Amino acid sequence: MRISVVGLGYVGLVTSACLAEWGHEVTGIEVSPERLRALNRGTLPFFEPGLDEMVARHRQAGRLEFTDSASGPVGSSDVVMVAVGTHDGNGGWQTETMLACLSQVVPFMHDDAVIVLRSTLPPDFIRQLPTLLRSLRDQAGRAPISALINPEFTREGAAVRDFLEAERVVLGVVDDPDRRGVGRLTTIYEVADAPILTMDAIDAAFAKLGSNLFLATKISFANELAALCDAYGARVHNVVEAMSYDGRIGGRFLRAGVGFGGSCLPHQVTMTVKSAALAGIPAPLLAAVDAINDRQRSDFVRLTRELLGGSVEGRRIALLGLTFKPDTDDLRDAPALDIARLLIAEGAEVVAYDPMEGARERSAEIVPGLVTVESAELAVAGSDAIGLVTEWAEFRSLDWPAIAETTRGHVVIDGRGVLDPAELNAVGFDYAAFGRGVQLAQDADHLEPAVVATATKDGSRILAGSFAQPESAGGMSAYRRGVE
Ligand code: UGA
Repeated sequence: MRISVVGLGYVGLVTSACLAEWGHEVTGIEVSPERLRALNRGTLPFFEPGLDEMVARHRQAGRLEFTDSASGPVGSSDVVMVAVGTHDGNGGWQTETMLACLSQVVPFMHDDAVIVLRSTLPPDFIRQLPTLLRSLRDQAGRAPISALINPEFTREGAAVRDFLEAERVVLGVVDDPDRRGVGRLTTIYEVADAPILTMDAIDAAFAKLGSNLFLATKISFANELAALCDAYGARVHNVVEAMSYDGRIGGRFLRAGVGFGGSCLPHQVTMTVKSAALAGIPAPLLAAVDAINDRQRSDFVRLTRELLGGSVEGRRIALLGLTFKPDTDDLRDAPALDIARLLIAEGAEVVAYDPMEGARERSAEIVPGLVTVESAELAVAGSDAIGLVTEWAEFRSLDWPAIAETTRGHVVIDGRGVLDPAELNAVGFDYAAFGRGVQLAQDADHLEPAVVATATKDGSRILAGSFAQPESAGGMSAYRRGVE
């Protein structure tokens, strides 16, 4: 099939390359001259594992090309997919780009073609689509065309596999009286060997939104559970592992830590809460999901402060990881940036390392005062505390005995719960993680007395105090299990 993909951002570029992989003739259309030039030079605008090789292979085979001119390719395409941005860059929606794009594309499509919207769109916009598309065709003196929405469910860092081996494909019908659109997309997607679900466009939009809202809810649930575990001296990873064997629950997306970032989950939760409030629709669960997620970032800072004896002022803090998750260079709503800002505002010197060079450079521009360096070893040398914020694979195999020789203090705050506390304790580091409490290498003498009150519970020494503040469900108690 001949397919045009309009907008070569994250969703559009992955879609283009994967459709070429399935043997289609794909033209990617991009209005940004810099991005287009880079793509035509073979440079991708972001990092996604496996994508650069796939793009290069299909460009060479002539199945994938990039251009800035929509009218030609669009006029000869069987399917036109649109994947333009719908964020306003300030936590809200914007549909101007989509409107401009549709008005440049829809009038030129041939009568038999199908338009497919891949972008995540606000529900109100979906409801206006049939009228909007028909009027664009009317004004051009042309017959109506089939129109569908086809939300994407790909994760950054695993997008190619998520597309090619989709768990489900959702088609939302905007306007498709003779089912030409559903038929054509079914032909495209049946290669994925996944259930293809066809429904009204508004249902499909909510299927996408509902999936992301549920994933966000799972993460905030895990973080609230972690806070309860901390208060009672339980360890959340053991708790979640035991829960995960219940088929109704499962274990995925229940990792406690600094919470969710990225361009999708935070935006969709916040926007849903805001839109619901404006429409007078109660959404208390999602408001709590949002609040818990925000709190994880400030709790990370509070814990750092408390482990350093009550203040971070003048202390050097190493941050490991800047991107919102591993295997991406995306910094959008990355917890690390907020954490760096908060620490710097309290007078800390923050030195960060992330394996993505571009992410390091952009972080230093975005967060005034943030220093970035080229290796984890450089970041931690001379530090008073080390905070792991993004669980890049290389941080799991750091040489802690060697690191212990280079740091000034011996405190590790593991914001993703991926390090081994025993290994760190053995070389003198105190260790803290959400839902795992604080596990001290030696006596807690260096902690302020106000912070450390002891109690005994089942043979464990529980260190509690300002970590476990009743007014903050996210308060992290410190505990030490069987060390004395
Ligand atoms: C998310 C969804 O997972 C995709 O299915 C969806 O297609 C995509 O949004 C989208 O709407 O386009 P993505 O934003 O790439 O994908 O990232 P996720 O893998 O969902 O991770 C989001 C955040 O949650 C990350 O910061 C991650 O570190 C955090 N997370 C994830 C946790 O804190 N705990 C977990 O257990 C899992």
